[in-house]
This record gives sequence, structure tokens and C-alpha cells, in this order.
Amino acid sequence: MRYIGNKTKLLGFIDGVMETVGIHSGTFCDIFAGTASVARYMKSKGFQVICGDIMRYSYILQWAYVVVNQYPRFAGLPPEVGVMGHAGSGNPQGPLRKVISFLNEQVDGADGFIYRNYCPGGSRDGRLYFTDENGRRIDAVRSILENWRRQGRLANDEYYLLLASLLESVDAVANISGVYCSFLKELQPNAVRRLRLRPSVLVTENPQRHEAHLRDANELILQIRCDILYLDPPYNPRQYAGNYHLLESIAEGWSQEEPKIYGKTGMRPYQNQRSVYCSRREGHRALVDLVEKARERAGCTHLLLSYNDEGIISQQEIQEILCAAGRSRTYRRFERAYKRFRSDADGPKRKYRADGVTERLYYVRLR
Ligand SMILES: C[S@@+](CC[C@H](N)C(=O)[O-])C[C@H]1O[C@@H](n2cnc3c(N)ncnc32)[C@H](O)[C@@H]1O
Repeated sequence: MRYIGNKTKLLGFIDGVMETVGIHSGTFCDIFAGTASVARYMKSKGFQVICGDIMRYSYILQWAYVVVNQYPRFAGLPPEVGVMGHAGSGNPQGPLRKVISFLNEQVDGADGFIYRNYCPGGSRDGRLYFTDENGRRIDAVRSILENWRRQGRLANDEYYLLLASLLESVDAVANISGVYCSFLKELQPNAVRRLRLRPSVLVTENPQRHEAHLRDANELILQIRCDILYLDPPYNPRQYAGNYHLLESIAEGWSQEEPKIYGKTGMRPYQNQRSVYCSRREGHRALVDLVEKARERAGCTHLLLSYNDEGIISQQEIQEILCAAGRSRTYRRFERAYKRFRSDADGPKRKYRADGVTERLYYVRLR
């Protein structure tokens, strides 16, 4: 999934660092989980995993990829979905595949919140985030999932798994350059493809009880115990809530009330989801507080922090924070050159400094 700071391509780097510093087992907490790529990987490595984030779309991905330990049976869905013959057929993925194929093939598009606000045919402002057909398909699938849920036909695992597939399929056809704070003027090749949900591939061989949280990191840390805390906070002033407003709306749904959107791009208000980590001064203070609580309250032994060389908190400051909290001479810094995430081309408003950035992974032992 396209996501600022997505660590999918850096999992090998993170893994190598953990090997070097001698982390092999325990409870792993990914407290800025985003797409849940790190949490999911650590689950596959056998760790017990706790994850959290302030965005609801992240919570859905966390639940689908970390909390769910088995392919569900979808036994409560109506007969026309066709899962009956698939449950117990020997293929555990059978029911999920059947539901996904029903949603892809048998559900007609419907005019709803997305079509009316984010597609050229429906939106008075001519917003071009999706083709009309895809916008209507998103509306129809989102509404059927909500109806099944309200009727008690979907268990939590089933609901979040299907929502995660919807979010990922939406991202694949969104007419954006990477983030949702604006749409592109012409439809791009990915956007003209028909929206297709795909069945998620789950980690089923680690049946421990894993947790997902929709919670601010500095609050969540007071509620958990973990051996390894992995921090991957925002690096710059761009708020995730603004950049991914459309995914958040789809995650929340609009069956009770539609989001009140505004402006050229149909932004939703996100005052209550602003991250202090996007501001230098507040972010510094929050990081000091988080590291302190990790040691004092969460009983954490190992702390890992991802940050890049263009981040708003300097390398020197991070070193000071970690050394002040950690055991002496355990602080280390690892680096990896990395291709930058570009959400738009260089232009009058934005000039990227270079094509590459240096990803850093900091380590300190707290106990
Ligand atoms: C760099 S991204 C994490 C990327 C993630 N590791 C991945 O691979 O997708 C930072 C994440 O922190 C979340 N975030 C920002 N402020 C937060 C806070 N105060 N508490 C919890 N999560 C926060 C954002 O919503 C975003 O998903």
C-alpha cells in the first residue's frame, strides 16, 4: 500500500538490526503501526505483537493482519454469497475467497457518499479521486459490509478482514500521486482499472493473543507491558489525518452520519487527530515522555526508533533522549540508504532535496 513511511521494503534492515543487538523473542509493540507492515512481519517471526495508531484505517489493517489468527468461516452470511459449500472444504482460505469474489462480481454499484463527493459524475466540484464506476463500487461494498455487520452476520475478524481488503483495493485505484490531500487532473492508468478486492494473506502460524489499538502512543504505553518497543513516528509536519482523509472516511463509514467535508479536495476536519509528532517542539517533548514511560511503566527492555535524516528532530537530539533513558553504552545507530517516498513532482511549492534519504534505526537498551 502507498503510505508515507511504509516500512515494507525495510523489514530486512530492521530484522538485521534486531539480530545484531540480540533481540530474538518477547512481546513486540509497534506503537505507530500505520499499514501494520512491521507488526505483521514480527508476528510471522513468532513474536507476540501489540500494535496501535491514531488512525482508524490503521486499526483495521492491524486487526486484519495481526489480530486475526485463522481464516474465518463467514458462516453467518446469506446463502447467495455461496460460502456454505466452502466452509470445511479443506481449504481454509475458501470462504474468504468466495466472499471476495461475491463482492467483486455480484454487487452492483450504488450512488453514495464517495460517488457524490469524490467522482466527476457525482461531485458538484468535479473531484476526480475515482472513476464514477469505482466510486459507486466503493459505496456499494462499504454499505453491504455495514449492513451485514448490523445484522450480526459478520464477526469482528470477518468484518475487519473485508474492510482491510476494501481499503487496499481503494488505494490501488485512487487517482492520486500517493496521498489524498489532492487528486490528479487526468485519470492515471491505475485509476481506470476496475476496483477489485483481493483476499488478504494472513499469518496463521503464530496463534498467540495479539492486540490492535486505536490510541495515541503516549496513552497506550501506559496500558501495556512489552519487551521490545518499536517507534516509527511521523518525521515531518505533514499530518497523516489530512493526507489520508479519504481512507479514514471509508474506514469509519457513514451509515450514522456522513463526514462534513470541505474545500476543493473534500477534506474532512481532523483537529482531533492531529499528531504532536508532526511538530518539532511538541514532538521532541512527546518522544522524551514516551521513552520515559516505556522504561518506567511498560517494563520495556529494548527500544528501537526509525527516523530518517530529514526528520524534524535531529540525530543529536535523538541520541540525547535515548542515552538519557538507556543503559550506558548500549546506544547504537544503524543506517540504510533508501529511495524517498514522493507524493508529488518537484514544483514551485515543493522541492525535494534528493532522490534518496538515509533511513536510520536507533537502538538503546532500557533495562
Ligand atoms: C511513519 S508512519 C508508520 C509507518 C508504519 N511503520 C508502516 O510501515 O506502515 C507513522 C504513523 O504514526 C501514526 N501516528 C501519528 N501520531 C501518532 C500518535 N500520537 N500516536 C499513535 N500513532 C500516531 C500515524 O497515523 C502514522 O500511521
